[in-house]
Amino acid sequence: MDKNFLWGCSSTAYQSEGASSEDGKGPSVWDVFTSVPGRTLGNTDGRIGVDFYHRWEGDLDLMAEMGLKLYHFSISWPRVLPEGRGRVNEAGLAFYDKVVDGCISRGIEPMITLYHWDLPQALQDAYGGWEDPQCIDDFLAYAKLLFEHFKGRVKYWITINEANIFTKFGWLTAMHPPAKFDQKIPFFRVNHHLFLAHAKAVLLAKELLPDAKVGASFAYGPGYAFDCDPRNAEARQNFDELENYWWLDVYCMGDYPMVGEHYARMNGWMPDIPDEDRALFREAAEAMDFIGVNYYHSNVCEYNPPDGAQPFGTPNVTGEQGVDAVTGLPGLYKNPPNPYLRTTDWDWTIDATGLKFACRELTSRYRKPIFITENGLGHFDSVESDGRIHDGYRVKFLRQHIAAVEEAVDMGCDILGYCVWTFTDLLSWLNGYQKRYGLVYVDQDESMQGSLARTPKDSYYWYQSVIASRGRVL
Ligand code: BG6
Repeated sequence: MDKNFLWGCSSTAYQSEGASSEDGKGPSVWDVFTSVPGRTLGNTDGRIGVDFYHRWEGDLDLMAEMGLKLYHFSISWPRVLPEGRGRVNEAGLAFYDKVVDGCISRGIEPMITLYHWDLPQALQDAYGGWEDPQCIDDFLAYAKLLFEHFKGRVKYWITINEANIFTKFGWLTAMHPPAKFDQKIPFFRVNHHLFLAHAKAVLLAKELLPDAKVGASFAYGPGYAFDCDPRNAEARQNFDELENYWWLDVYCMGDYPMVGEHYARMNGWMPDIPDEDRALFREAAEAMDFIGVNYYHSNVCEYNPPDGAQPFGTPNVTGEQGVDAVTGLPGLYKNPPNPYLRTTDWDWTIDATGLKFACRELTSRYRKPIFITENGLGHFDSVESDGRIHDGYRVKFLRQHIAAVEEAVDMGCDILGYCVWTFTDLLSWLNGYQKRYGLVYVDQDESMQGSLARTPKDSYYWYQSVIASRGRVL
């Protein structure tokens, strides 16, 4: 790969930091959501995480030893603004100063995500969070604070992580905060607010930080038609319009996909959209520097009769293969398993070709650079008798996916960097600690009483050699 290619790793505040009420941090919606028993595996929550808040220095040392070029992490909005707006918590900002400066002094480029799902609970209580347009202004004030504070130190910014995932889980399936079920009107309104927040933040970054590179991260699971039955080809179109292009088109082209929007409008789910919102979307799409792609799996799309599969299934949070129910939108599409592909223990298909497919699709459709902001394998890991973690399965997964990225580059895609999800193991939102992604093992489990000791896995040393060879030795 080119010498400027950014070999990275990603993490988030809620999943890694812990210290959830330390040094003046306010509660986030996740702190409150997980305080109700039964919502996550083993009732795990982010109070301890993997204690990055106290162990950041050792973790950054390990990153530097590995040769990491970029560390992508999110900032906890309520750590910086405990009430979501107004009073700044200087201790919170000081923590991120240490992380940012610690990256820079070790030759690691910091990349910041402004919003990775941990909304200040105060804003949820005050006006219902993202359902109210006030949240756009509060988000923008928070973004401005960070842009000005980190000016000259942070070049790469992500506005919002995976709006498609947290709004679907938050308003359609009640699996994330604010735990609402099948509420399509707020779902579409919330997403419109998020698009406005993203667009305004992109334009603000461009105004305040002329050298910044800004994008949004999107969980892109490309759709494959089940077969050449025209009904399944159309199911694929329906899926892409409503589950992928709905977000990608707004981010990259500045408007909703027309047929998808017509469908939402006919159903009475779509908010009224003033012309100036669309003009703003177009301006931000033009200004956005790259598309952040979080890639985990592809999807199969098949015709779904009107009385067929629903969006709400039984999610696999235990790692017992085969429990994930087929979901879909009645009358439009459903997503059955792919008979050509194996899956992880959490029923996600393993499909490196899908990542190449995703990069090609985005490149030809939007003509923008891509940053792979997350890619990784959730797996059970164990410490073996020699005290090490021999995660050859993870090396195989990452090798195939990085090879797919390299093929996409050879085909003409402009890919700026690639981030493994994750550097250390951390808390999986719903799945506890046993669904591990890290290159570095953390002694922590659902009891939340682990020693938190770090042990590099085989994949850590493998990624070290990949980085050193700039991707030539996989
Ligand atoms: C992405 C999120 O959706 O997937 C991460 O941005 C998340 O925060 C990752 O952890 C893996 O998902 P999960 O549910 O396996 O932890």
